Amino acid sequence: MAKPKKHVFVCSQQRSPGHPRGSCAHKGGAEVLQTFWAELQKRNCYEQVAVTYSGCLGPCDLGINVVVYPDAVMYSAVTKDDVAEIFDQHLLGGTPVERLLTPEPVW
Ligand code: FES
Repeated sequence: MAKPKKHVFVCSQQRSPGHPRGSCAHKGGAEVLQTFWAELQKRNCYEQVAVTYSGCLGPCDLGINVVVYPDAVMYSAVTKDDVAEIFDQHLLGGTPVERLLTPEPVW
C-alpha cells in the first residue's frame, strides 16, 4: 500500500435526534463522505490521497467538518458540491480552499 500524501478525514459522527451538539451525520456527512470516495475513484489517485470517515472533529455546530493531514487544514460547512474543488485545488493542487477554512480561533 502506498503512503498517501494527503489523508482526508470526513466527520461521520452520529448523535441521537435532539442532542444539543447535533452531528455532522445529521447534516449529511455520509453523502459528503460518499462524494469524496467517488471523486477519489474518478481521479484514480489512491497513491496521493486517502479518505477515511472519522468521529467528531470538535466544532460540531460548524459541520460538516473535514480535516486534511499532514496539512492540519480543517474545512467546515462542507457540502457534496465542494468536494471536487477540494480535490482539484488542495488535495492534488496543493492550495487549500480558502472560502471553506474553519475560522480562527476555532481551528
Ligand atoms: S459531529 Fe462532526 S465535528 Fe462534531
